[in-house]
Formats: sequence, C-alpha cells, structure tokens
Amino acid sequence: MLITDARIIKQEEILPGFHRLTLAAGEVAAKARPGQFLHVHCAADRLDPFLRRPISIHAVDRQRGEVALFYRVVGRGTALLAAKEKGDQLNILGPLGRGFTMPPGKGKVAVVAGGIGIAPLYFLLQELGANKISADVFLGAATGQQLFFGSEITGLGHNVFPATDDGTAGYQGNVVSLFARGPSDFVYGCGPAAMLQSLCRVIEKHKIRGEISLEERMGCGVGACLSCACKTRGQEGNCRYSRVCVEGPVFPSGEVVWS
Ligand SMILES: Cc1cc2nc3c(=O)[nH]c(=O)nc-3n(C[C@H](O)[C@H](O)[C@H](O)COP(=O)(O)OP(=O)(O)OC[C@H]3O[C@@H](n4cnc5c(N)ncnc54)[C@H](O)[C@@H]3O)c2cc1C
Ligand code: FES
Repeated sequence: MLITDARIIKQEEILPGFHRLTLAAGEVAAKARPGQFLHVHCAADRLDPFLRRPISIHAVDRQRGEVALFYRVVGRGTALLAAKEKGDQLNILGPLGRGFTMPPGKGKVAVVAGGIGIAPLYFLLQELGANKISADVFLGAATGQQLFFGSEITGLGHNVFPATDDGTAGYQGNVVSLFARGPSDFVYGCGPAAMLQSLCRVIEKHKIRGEISLEERMGCGVGACLSCACKTRGQEGNCRYSRVCVEGPVFPSGEVVWS
C-alpha cells in the first residue's frame, strides 16, 4: 500500500457528470489488481472534506506507468475531483482491498455491469483479454448515452450485450434479466446494490459461481474504523461482519448477506 502524490495527466468529461482521470503512478500501476481501489484525497490544498473518497482502479497501463479512474460526480468530494486539471497533483492511498480472482477452469465467463459499475470491471476486462479469456459483457445503463466503453471492450476481445432502461439502445430492461437468459459458468458483477442482489439470486438459482464488488461509505479505507462493515456468511454458514475496504470490496457472491 502506497501513499503518494500522483500527477494528473488527463481529466476527460466523457458525458456531463462522468469523468475519466488519468494519473502518472508507476508503482501503483505495477501493483494494482482488478477490483482494487484508491482512497483519494479530493481536497489537496485544504482539509475539507477531511475524509478520502474510495474510487476503483478503472484501467492500468503498466508500460506507461498510468492508472485511470472513472467516476460520477455525486457530491462534494467528486465535484472537487472533477475541478482538478492536467498537471495538478492528487494524493492517493492504495492500491487497497481484495480484488477479483481469475476464473477457474475454461468455462464461459460473463461480466455484468450496472451504470458506473463498469468502472472496476473495465480493468478486469483488460486483464482477462491479456490472458486470452473472452467474456460476454452485459452492459446496463439508464439510457444509451450512458453505455460506456462498448467499443473499447469489444477491442479487448469481448462480446458486448447492451441493455437500457429506456430502450434507447440494446435490450429494453434490466441488465440482470438480459444476463439471466443464458447464464454462464463464472460471473463478475458491479453496480447498484439492488442490481447486485438480483444478480446474486440468478447466480444462486443456476448454481454457478461469481464475484461481486460492493460499495459502502468509507472512513479510513484500511480496516481501522469499521465504518464499511457489511454482513457476510462464513464457510460454516454463520453470519459475521466483514470490512468492505479490507476483506472486500470484491466478495464471492454466496458470501454476501442481503438484508
Ligand atoms: C470500493 C469503492 C469503489 C468505488 N468506486 C467508484 C468508482 O470507480 N467510480 C465512482 O463514481 N464511484 C465509486 N465509488 C463511490 C464513491 O466513493 C462515492 O460516489 C464518493 O465517495 C462520493 O463522494 P462525494 O463527496 O462526491 O459525495 P458525498 O457528498 O459524500 O455523497 C453524495 C451522495 O453519494 C452517496 N455516497 C457517498 N459515498 C458513497 C459510497 N461509498 N457508496 C455509495 N454511495 C455513496 C451519499 O450517500 C450521497 O447520497 C466507490 C465506492 C467504493 C466503496
Ligand atoms: S473504511 Fe475504515 S474499516 Fe473500512
């Protein structure tokens, strides 16, 4: 785990409120694994907001020593992040957390993304592509404009199946319903909690295996404050609490207890 000042190489507003920020961070790029996140100090020149904000590692270019974040502006921290410009320094802590594992065996792999949930899954798709594993990618969004990175994902060697709530592109309806039409052997998911809960139901029903990435509000990001605790199931079926920042954010789908 590193705490470092990284130079912003690029700040792109892909759609109003959706930004991709590229950092020069060679050591982080070398160490990062898909599903891990950075704890970002959004206010570099003052103490407010005091707490860092967790943002997933979205893409990595190890040769160039670059790390990208893809984020939605939802409040003060992310608005301050969006105001930063090329050449500014950003203080980051990470890579943090437990990431995705590579799929076991040679079965069919699916990736199910809801909205901004594509952020960490894109890095996973980079790694799968580099390992010559082609996935079926179910990309869900409210509207066609928010179906991000479809052509880049195809370029990595995967098949993209879009779904939109308003029917402006691809299948009209919920991305989990689209995925449920032809389940795979191993599934990765990230998106809103309700979407992940219904994805876990499909995974359980079809007795397949999967990993999902959870979001909880975070304080320290390193396991000390317990603010990110979520209910999980142990190997003997007993309930317990896990820290999303350390034991997660990626969990085997069967471990998460939805209440
Ligand atoms: C491990 C992890 C990885 C994440 N990766 C990404 C990412 O790649 N891209 C991205 O856009 N966002 C990501 N998030 C969510 C991101 O951390 C929050 O959107 C951000 O902290 C909001 O900060 P803010 O100051 O802008 O908003 P605030 O003013 O703090 O809050 C604005 C609104 O966002 C909600 N919110 C704040 N933090 C969270 C959170 N952690 N989870 C869910 N809702 C929250 C609040 O309840 C409130 O409604 C991730 C969260 C976690 C835990
Ligand atoms: S954020 Fe402090 S323990 Fe997870």
